[in-house]
Amino acid sequence: MADKLIIFDTTLRDGEQSPGASMTKDEKIRIAKQLERLKVDVIEAGFAAASPGDFESIKAISGIVKDSIICSLSRANDRDIARAAEALAPAQRKRIHTFIATSALHMEKKLRMSPDEVFEQAKLAVRFARKFTDDIEFSPEDGSRSDPDFLCRVIEAVIAEGATTINFADTVGYGVPELYGTMLRSLRERIPNSDKAVWSVHCHNDLGMAVANSLAGVMIGGARQIECTINGLGERAGNTALEEVVMAIRTRKDYFNLNLGIDASQIVATSKMVSQITGFAVQPNKAVVGANAFAHASGIHQDGVLKARDTYEIMRAEDVGWTANKIVLGKLSGRNAFKQRLEELGISLDSETEVNAAFARFKELADRKSDIFDEDILALVSDEQQSHDDEQYRFVSMSQHSETGEKPFASVVFTIAGKEVACTGQGNGPVDATVNAIETQTASGAELLLFSVNAITTGTQSQGEVTMRLSKAGRIVNGVGADPDIVVASAKAYLSALNKLYSKVDKLNPQL
Ligand code: KIV
Ligand code: ZN
Repeated sequence: MADKLIIFDTTLRDGEQSPGASMTKDEKIRIAKQLERLKVDVIEAGFAAASPGDFESIKAISGIVKDSIICSLSRANDRDIARAAEALAPAQRKRIHTFIATSALHMEKKLRMSPDEVFEQAKLAVRFARKFTDDIEFSPEDGSRSDPDFLCRVIEAVIAEGATTINFADTVGYGVPELYGTMLRSLRERIPNSDKAVWSVHCHNDLGMAVANSLAGVMIGGARQIECTINGLGERAGNTALEEVVMAIRTRKDYFNLNLGIDASQIVATSKMVSQITGFAVQPNKAVVGANAFAHASGIHQDGVLKARDTYEIMRAEDVGWTANKIVLGKLSGRNAFKQRLEELGISLDSETEVNAAFARFKELADRKSDIFDEDILALVSDEQQSHDDEQYRFVSMSQHSETGEKPFASVVFTIAGKEVACTGQGNGPVDATVNAIETQTASGAELLLFSVNAITTGTQSQGEVTMRLSKAGRIVNGVGADPDIVVASAKAYLSALNKLYSKVDKLNPQL
């Protein structure tokens, strides 16, 4: 019988470490519920000791998600591990993931510890974690650049202490598929108790090889768990993309011969949700989830596909959840139809008050835009949920004027801690004028790192989804706003980024 390959999703932990991708508790809960629908085996919900926000998110997710194992990262010390265990307490099935760097470079320069000290700390960490659960994962950080003899010594010892998963981390994306796979295989062959643990791969994409390295770790190295993120989100060039490894293994079952528990039809919805919440747009030519992933532009290809789909298609778009843009609701749709569509999209709002607020927004949108698509509903709900968290600023209304030869002018009304303020500004363009107007009241002085506009659906009546990435005092945040008027969407995105900037989350990065 084919082996099962465990899919371990770390979007909410390693993915969130991507500058600007930080998420609120509510956003993390929404993503965790969607990951459960996608049927991922393990959800790494955060790093409990990193911040009170991370702790609370893991705790909440542990109480809500039932079908996936919930995991928290922790450094190899008692305090972190106890904090992880406390956050995971409500979970039906929990895992503690503890790690320590094992490469000479990291031990000497970062940890300032001798190999013997690292060896002892790794053992003690796993021993301590065993007090809370039997499901313990151990990662030798920077594993792929570590001395194999030392790795064998550490891994044998942590398995003897009770580690049940060994995660061979390619922390800096240095691996090359064949070398990474054979190093993993050699570790498994050399470590006498290696068969007592499931081996896992965790790859970063610095050289664009995270997916290839992960698959080599599976095929050459014998790993049976892949750690990955939705859309490949993650620090620097990101992590292994879940959608790519899953579809590679499914599409090439003839070669991989592995079973997966994933419901692939949820892939596109998950990708859209993560991109919408984090503000990290998916490039159009991205495999599986990019807007062009299934588009055939060349005449020869179109002709072939019309005659027989498999001439140029190795997967079916609908199998990963692509649906043709469908008009689902309109101006005359009632609250019940709206609520039902929310349910069909897997969106559960916490209370009737939230449904009412979302419905009011829907009506407002339907007045300005005749056809409402699923994508519009998702953006609307995302906007609505965003506005609950740490809301210092909230958009009310605006007007702007731009004319050839004139300096654009904007007038914006928004609330600061519930109190309405009105302001005006001028700028090079309408968006610049809007941001300048808002700054007259907020004086954030934040630096704008990124401004991007995406059409949510097709056609000129589409809503524009704007992402603004701001940086201030070393913190980077993304704000997202959607509206048929892209200047309004920009104002919303700017205020949403300011809300995140002022939410005062002090977070530890596990790699520091
Ligand atoms: O990249 C890495 O090494 C990690 C570990 C904490 C597993 O994310
Ligand atoms: Zn990582």
